Order: sequence, then structure tokens, then C-alpha cells
Amino acid sequence: MEKTELHQFRQQFPALTHKVYFNFGGQGPMSHETMTAIANSFAHIQSKGPFSKQTNDWVREECHLTRTTISSALGVEPTTISLTEDVSVGCNIVLWGLDWQAGDHLLMTDCEHPGIIAAIQELQRRMGLEVTICPISQTLNQPHTHQAILELVQKHLRPRTRLVVLSHIFWNTGQVLPLDEIVDLCHSQANPVRVLVDAAQSVGMIPLNLTQLGVDFYAFTGHKWWCGPEGLGGLYVSPEARERLSPTFIGWRNLIADPQGNPVGWQPHGQRYEIATSAYPLYAGLRESLNIHNRWGTDENRYQRILSLSRHLWQQLQTVPTVRCVQNQSPQSGLVSLQLLSQQPSTVSHAELVQVLEDQGILIRAIPNPNCVRVSIHYFTLESEINTLVRAIARWSTPDPLVENG
Ligand SMILES: Cc1ncc(COP(=O)(O)O)c(C=O)c1O
Repeated sequence: MEKTELHQFRQQFPALTHKVYFNFGGQGPMSHETMTAIANSFAHIQSKGPFSKQTNDWVREECHLTRTTISSALGVEPTTISLTEDVSVGCNIVLWGLDWQAGDHLLMTDCEHPGIIAAIQELQRRMGLEVTICPISQTLNQPHTHQAILELVQKHLRPRTRLVVLSHIFWNTGQVLPLDEIVDLCHSQANPVRVLVDAAQSVGMIPLNLTQLGVDFYAFTGHKWWCGPEGLGGLYVSPEARERLSPTFIGWRNLIADPQGNPVGWQPHGQRYEIATSAYPLYAGLRESLNIHNRWGTDENRYQRILSLSRHLWQQLQTVPTVRCVQNQSPQSGLVSLQLLSQQPSTVSHAELVQVLEDQGILIRAIPNPNCVRVSIHYFTLESEINTLVRAIARWSTPDPLVENG
């Protein structure tokens, strides 16, 4: 895309004007078109009567269209997609819906999000599970990372392991896991192990074909890298895994009812895990967000641009003596984490840096573990924004010689 085209493209996103935005991993910005699509849907519902046969039919079609749009972005059948609110809901549907027995083992990595860790700890307490941690973070800067990860996972699997929980891309370091190989390893155990993936940082960032990855459960959201509205996410459940996953949160939407209205069974497909009334107008918004990305280029084009911009940031940071990148090689994702070296890295200095930059209109975030700040790069980030960021970090973290001497 030409420079002028990119500038025009960015004008669709009000959040990108008058600031330098690097928090896509927290939440992506919405375009004018996305917000208009949502507003139009609200208006449509009100004009037809919010509860009417016509509106109910329209809502059903909206659900269908949205599952279909998402499924084609993820390389799966529409029947495998459940519409949820966010990543955490998707993970909870899976965690609580499996038929656990006391003593079953769950393995998770040491880089999971606090919300998911908390859900697993509560599950462990209520169900009497064994939960252990696979220390994948130690492989980040190792030479043969994929092999090291597979060996670690293999070492931590047990005869009673039922589920492995991992993020496709780690939210703290940006490390990308070799998911297809991990899934193969888990499925090839004598008692096949299912894999639940936290896809908060992968959906919308990297090209995906979940059928090829062979994964069992993939929980994602629209509001991060897809730049959709907050409050709309999804869950992929493979047809085989669906056989073993019961609905836990239950309402009229998961059911089949007889003519008298008595529940007589579950919906056969992904709808089985959808619960009840939702913010349906958001659905058109997310579809519009995906349209906008597709207008820019293929998933692969966008990912390659993310990688090239992340590499630029990583290389620029190598020239700043007061910081150190958490990854010692060029990043594999749009998440680039760095630590300040000027003071011993303390939470305070990273939080201070985030605040100082926010005061200058540059938005990044602090991460507690590893103690660092995280920069998210999207395909429509500008190289000039990266240069501005690096200059601002260098300025703030380099001791002022006049102050030191005086
Ligand atoms: C890896 C990871 N998992 C889960 C979450 C929570 O996402 P959500 O608010 O969509 O549930 C986040 C969000 O920051 C995340 O980065």
C-alpha cells in the first residue's frame, strides 16, 4: 500500500488521530464504518419493533452471517463456531464443560493470562484436579525453540492429563507457539489429550486455518486485532471435541424445545454453547471490521507487514543502550516487549514510562511478568510512529548529563 493510501486508510479510525496507538493487543480501534454498521443495526431493530417475528428472523440471519464470516476467516465450517462475548467466556465454556474426574490432570503454560489462571485454579479447587505448569517461557531465547517446546510439553504430560491450556501467542513476550506440532503431540498420547487455545493475541494477527492446526478448542475475541466492538468474541469447537463438551451456561439459545416449549435437547452445532439474548447489533460491526481488513490485503500480506514493522522496532531498540528487548531475536509477532535497564527494572519505572508516554499521546502498556512494557504493532502502524516511540523512550530513559553532573 502506498504511503498516501495508508494515511487515508488510517483516517477511518478515530482512535488513530492525534495519538500514537500501540495497544492493539489490549483493544483494537474501531473504524467509522464499524460504528455506523452497529448504529444502523440498532436503528433497524427499533424500526421493526425490537421483539417481533421480523426482528427475530433478522437476528437469526445476523447470527448465521456472523458465524459464517468468522468461520471463513479461521478456515473452518460455520457449524463449529459459537458466538460469545470474549476470550474468557470461551475458555470458561470449555473448562467447565468437560467431564472432569477428581485426580484428572490439567497442564498449562507459565505465560497464561490472569483471568484464565484464576478460572483454572477455581476449577482445580472444585473438581479436585491436578494442575501443573509447563515452563515454556524458558525457551524464548533458546536456539531450537520449537524442539525445546515440544520436549517440555512431552515431559510434563501425564497418563491422566486431559487438557493442555496454552496461548497461541503469549500476551507478555509475543512468543508464537508451534501449535500444530503441540496438538499432534497431545493427540498422539495413549490417552489423547485435548488442547484449549487462548487465541486473544492470534486471531486477527496471524493467518489461521484451524482445520489444519487440528486444535480442539480455540477461544478468541473480535475486539483486539480484528478491531471489532468490545463484547463480541467466539469459540471454535472441533466436531469431535463437541461430542465431549457439555454446555454449562444454559438459556433458550442452546436448546431445542418441543411444541409445548419443553427443552428436549441441545442445538446440534456451535449454537449449543450460545446462551441467550446478546448485543446483536455488534455482529454487523464485527463483519464490517473484517471487511475493512480484507480490503487492505490477504491475512498473509497483513502478517508480513506486521513482522516487518516489528522487526524495525526491534532493530531500533537495539540502538538504545538503556533498554533491552525481552526477545533476543527479531519478533515473530506484533507484540514487542522491552525492559528498562537504566534503573534496575522495577514495576515503578515501567509504569512511569507508560504514564510519561501517555502524556505525550503515545499509548503502550506495562506487563507484570516478565516485568516489562509491551508495544503492539498492527499492519497499519506507521514506521514514523515507531521512530517517534523509540526516540521518546530513549529520551526518557537516558540520564540527563546536566542533572547528573549538577
Ligand atoms: C492472552 C489473553 N487472554 C485473555 C485475555 C482476556 O480477553 P477477554 O477480555 O477478551 O476475555 C487477554 C486480554 O487482554 C489476553 O491477552
